[in-house]
Amino acid sequence: MTGIHGRRGPFTDGDTVQLTDPKGRMHTITLREGGSFHSHKGKVEHDDLIGEPEGSVARSNTGTAYVALRPLLIDYTLSMKRGATIVYPKDAAQVMVEADIFPGARVVEAGAGSGAMSNWLLRAVGEQGMVHSYERREDFAKIARKNVETFYGGPHPAWKLTVGDLVEELDETDVDRVFLDMLAPWECLDAVAGALIPGGLVCCYVATTTQLSRVVEELRGDERFYEPRSWETMLRTWHVEGLAVRPDHRMIGHTGFLVVARRLADGVEAPERRRRPAKGAYGKDYEAAKAASDAGARAAAPAAAPATESTAEAAVEPAAAKGPESDE
Ligand SMILES: C[S@@+](CC[C@H](N)C(=O)[O-])C[C@H]1O[C@@H](n2cnc3c(N)ncnc32)[C@H](O)[C@@H]1O
Repeated sequence: MTGIHGRRGPFTDGDTVQLTDPKGRMHTITLREGGSFHSHKGKVEHDDLIGEPEGSVARSNTGTAYVALRPLLIDYTLSMKRGATIVYPKDAAQVMVEADIFPGARVVEAGAGSGAMSNWLLRAVGEQGMVHSYERREDFAKIARKNVETFYGGPHPAWKLTVGDLVEELDETDVDRVFLDMLAPWECLDAVAGALIPGGLVCCYVATTTQLSRVVEELRGDERFYEPRSWETMLRTWHVEGLAVRPDHRMIGHTGFLVVARRLADGVEAPERRRRPAKGAYGKDYEAAKAASDAGARAAAPAAAPATESTAEAAVEPAAAKGPESDE
């Protein structure tokens, strides 16, 4: 049900279908016998599509042609209803590879947010794996559940969703991978270290340089983790038309940074890294910045978190990543 179901063969009643008009505008509909899709370009009868192969063209009563395709997960992700800011697809792709999410893996994720990352993780671990998502906001958890169940056509057998704070609720052990997408992932590192198997991996997705610095330094200072690696990914699409072959004028400027670190075996002492910090890297300015960041984190502590989470991250969310119903 979670793999090929609903993804091959002629369109049937109940299929989710994406209609693209000549200007590239997309509309997602659910096919129903006798149903119709209305826009200012007229009406398309669902019955004209039911029984037709994917990739068919349907015409509205005013003659507008729509290409009909089942949405890819990337299309679904960008068009689904949002609560919290999602992991942008270019970054989700990086997580799959760099965090080495494999079929059958046992993965913990927090926060579930809108369920975008849950969908990618579930697809990678498959029905034999496990994704346990934690989300402390009930309203967001509800959206995440709806988005996952809509995409997979019902409850996914490998998915558990717990409403609550990861630090208080994490009840998994023998975990292969942990993915943290939240304002203060460093607050979860102790719980995460307890859940991961030796050699397991934690991957954090953070929006700002101050968060990046904080989480890397906390990982470095925790002897249970090996030296973290950090990066961001820039994606530049191209305009290709005859001799006009050039990068597109617009691109997504910034989404977030990724950090990964591996869990060491208990009781080992990691060999000293031969890394010479730049002069002053940990000097007075660093201490002052850390103190300011600590104060900031305290201000964003649980009581204030629900409002802060969306607002802080919305500040860096690319316009293109915003869904039509995002409440940020
Ligand atoms: C940016 S959103 C996550 C989006 C999600 N990765 C997606 O792709 O849809 C961050 C979420 O983390 C949740 N959160 C923050 N700290 C948490 C914690 N300690 N435990 C559980 N959820 C947490 C917030 O409520 C928020 O919904």
